[in-house]
Amino acid sequence: MLALSCVLCQGENWVTVDQERFYLNGSEYHYIGTNYWYGVNMGAPLSGDRDRVRKELDQLISLGVTNLRIMAGGQGPDDREKRIVPSIEPEPMEFNEDVWLGFDFLLNEMRNRGMKAIVPINNYWEWSGGFGQYVEWHGGDFEDPLSFYEMIDVQEHFRAFTEYLLNRENTLNGVLYKEDSTIMAWQLSNEPRIENCTLYQEWISSTVDFIKDIAPHHLVSLGNEGTITNCAREGNEVESLDYVTFHCWAQNWGWFDPKDPSSLDSALVHVREYLDKNVEIANDLHKPAVLEEFGISRDDASYSPDALTTLRDKYYRFVFEYVVDHVKNRSSNIVATNFWAYGGMGRPVSEGGLWRPGDDFIGDPPHEPQGWYSVYDKDSTLSIVKSYNNLLRHITHGISNKMISRSE
Ligand SMILES: *[C@@H]1O[C@H](CO)[C@@H](O)[C@H](O)[C@H]1NC(C)=O
Ligand SMILES: *[C@@H]1O[C@H](CO)[C@@H](O)[C@H](O)[C@H]1NC(C)=O
Ligand SMILES: *[C@@H]1O[C@H](CO)[C@@H](O)[C@H](O)[C@H]1NC(C)=O
Repeated sequence: MLALSCVLCQGENWVTVDQERFYLNGSEYHYIGTNYWYGVNMGAPLSGDRDRVRKELDQLISLGVTNLRIMAGGQGPDDREKRIVPSIEPEPMEFNEDVWLGFDFLLNEMRNRGMKAIVPINNYWEWSGGFGQYVEWHGGDFEDPLSFYEMIDVQEHFRAFTEYLLNRENTLNGVLYKEDSTIMAWQLSNEPRIENCTLYQEWISSTVDFIKDIAPHHLVSLGNEGTITNCAREGNEVESLDYVTFHCWAQNWGWFDPKDPSSLDSALVHVREYLDKNVEIANDLHKPAVLEEFGISRDDASYSPDALTTLRDKYYRFVFEYVVDHVKNRSSNIVATNFWAYGGMGRPVSEGGLWRPGDDFIGDPPHEPQGWYSVYDKDSTLSIVKSYNNLLRHITHGISNKMISRSE
């Protein structure tokens, strides 16, 4: 049991982890969620579109989606290409309150709907500033994100940002972020890479301790891509990390060619091997595993929202089937997944081109071809998300009934 230190925490609905499963409100917690990284920006009263957030959250709820992986804003300066703007931190430790109000809004709307957030605090990649920007701000090279781990000023700065984030009081409901059970987990970074596994473990361990000292009720995870990169096992081995993360990018890694539909079947063989291999790490470590990113193109590699998603739908079914089957059989530690990514009511302004300030946010970050992996509010893919979430709910319900009858 948690030693509860805050008054409000008692009434909160925390996601907890016990050995190899997540729990919420007395049942195992399994989910097919999504990535909704732009939610913080979209919630901003001046620069965002709050009505769109409300509608999209309602859409997601109607699909059974309750778990969103969101970015904690990003770093400026706001005149760079290939960045989410406005950033939450346009200059070192100078904040854009409009975007923080967007964060408050998103969390409050999610809370009202009983949703849970996974929040990467940083990013190895450039599209939210992240490692490279911290390095540049402290005299290093933007193109050298690996310096992030070793520069003392950078680490102090990252911790100062994290401290502000965790201690922020939501202006809409008065709840401190560190005491808000809407947040299921803090994540050290989106897709952190490194070459030196010892240094990785040291950084992970000390950063998790730093976060848990401030926010002891929250889970913490790494946010890495898995065995396609170095140190996947070593990173997740750090005891204080509550669960294992991994991502699967069949097309980016050359297993699937969207111009050749027949390549999907062989790609699925690679995908299954990759999922098995990463879940195996979680099994060994006795921690739950979450596949928190996967996606592929629309048919014929089209960037048009009008293109069909026949192959994508098949791929999503395959992944959901994998998760649901394992959950049902209790044959491994995979417990949940988040697809990449919800584009909702947004549409690409420049199909296949870069995002520019003022364009709709969609599921594809600013540095990637717009319309590549986004799932829109009218796509056939949504009915698959919905039916597998229903299935998962039935299975979870069955499990909790069994737990009850066993204890009687
Ligand atoms: C938690 O579970 C109880 C009992 O099953 C239920 O009455 C309650 O509505 C649930 N709370 C939430 C927030 O789901
Ligand atoms: C890796 O990191 C550790 C811990 O910081 C350090 O002692 C070691 O020298 C590094 N190894 C290399 C090859 O840089
Ligand atoms: C789950 O059980 C079914 C029926 O026994 C079996 O066909 C399937 O391969 C199992 N799947 C996993 C992932 O264990």
